[in-house]
Amino acid sequence: MTDKRIVCVTGASGYIGSWLVKRLLERGYHVRATVRDPGNERKVKNLLELPNASTHLSLWKADLTEESSYDDAVQGCQGVFHVATPMELLYHDEPAENEEIESTTVNGILSIMRSCSKAKTVKRFVYTSSTGNIMMQRQPPVDEYTEEHWSDLDLCYELKMFAWKYVVAKTTAERAAWKYAEENGIDMVTVHPSLVLGQSVTPQTSFSTEAATVLYTKDEANIALPKKLHNLSAVHVDDVCNAHIFLFEHPLAKGRYICSTHIFNIFEVGHSLREKYPDKNIPTEFEGLDKSPKIIPCSSKKLIGLGFEFAHKNKDVGDLCAETIEWCRVKGLL
Ligand SMILES: NC(=O)c1ccc[n+]([C@@H]2O[C@H](COP(=O)([O-])OP(=O)(O)OC[C@H]3O[C@@H](n4cnc5c(N)ncnc54)[C@H](OP(=O)(O)O)[C@@H]3O)[C@@H](O)[C@H]2O)c1
Repeated sequence: MTDKRIVCVTGASGYIGSWLVKRLLERGYHVRATVRDPGNERKVKNLLELPNASTHLSLWKADLTEESSYDDAVQGCQGVFHVATPMELLYHDEPAENEEIESTTVNGILSIMRSCSKAKTVKRFVYTSSTGNIMMQRQPPVDEYTEEHWSDLDLCYELKMFAWKYVVAKTTAERAAWKYAEENGIDMVTVHPSLVLGQSVTPQTSFSTEAATVLYTKDEANIALPKKLHNLSAVHVDDVCNAHIFLFEHPLAKGRYICSTHIFNIFEVGHSLREKYPDKNIPTEFEGLDKSPKIIPCSSKKLIGLGFEFAHKNKDVGDLCAETIEWCRVKGLL
């Protein structure tokens, strides 16, 4: 009989995955971190250097596109945190070229759940979903989005808004996962973060780091990004990862959980960053955008009601972006 707590984290080299690994190691978990290429030193070095990694972390090669790829990593685990997603979907607009990526997201989650069924050791499967799976509504709610809302995929196909294929893929994957969980007796909990901000473990940039730093860098390649970030919700990466662990451990956790603390508009972020970096000429005017939009928040009441406390809720969104900016500066990424 062993009292080792063994869990698997998919997408462990990514922005959220690596922070989750860090927090799990700190709590004494034995973590099996899956990455597509364990030999890619740039991606895995920071994971291997985390506190407790030498005794509690192992790297496993696995890919969402390969059936049974996660069998070995999942076998013997009590928990699986499925974080990996082909994030490049965010940037693609054309359906045809994305069918494959969408099917990677959907088939990938089902393949990992089949690994859980085979293993017979997994007590709970935690999926990193998104508020994107919630917020695309033809008639938005008057006061707040809740876990009862599911994004309307017909509306996504109609509007083809920013990241619409990502929303379609993630929503389709989540629906398929709930069906599989119900039919196969998997205890699944989904976490729905809004835009995740804050520092990082990985040395590579992600959508989150690009979003947090774009007003600071005024990067030409991302020139349209600020407008896409207008009128959004956000949350600190540490709160997101602690919520994952909280929901894994809580005996009464059930269903979907929104994980979001902030609502913001890009004007506020611009002003906040301009105060923090007066010599950087941070933009504060954005043509064509409503300065006082009605922002409908994503409610984290269900998560808070279960006893979760957000540690970073009192920072402003500029603080969260500045944290990412400082981390990028220290790492020489800016
Ligand atoms: N960042 C946000 O603001 C945000 C908000 C809400 C929800 N989320 C969700 O959070 C999760 C993580 O996002 P992130 O921001 O941390 O993204 P990220 O930094 O881009 O990490 C994505 C990870 O997915 C892995 N991956 C991509 N394609 C894969 C494949 N075919 N097989 C196996 N692994 C694959 C990558 O692994 P390799 O190292 O092997 O390339 C990478 O580690 C995603 O599910 C995303 O939908 C993110």
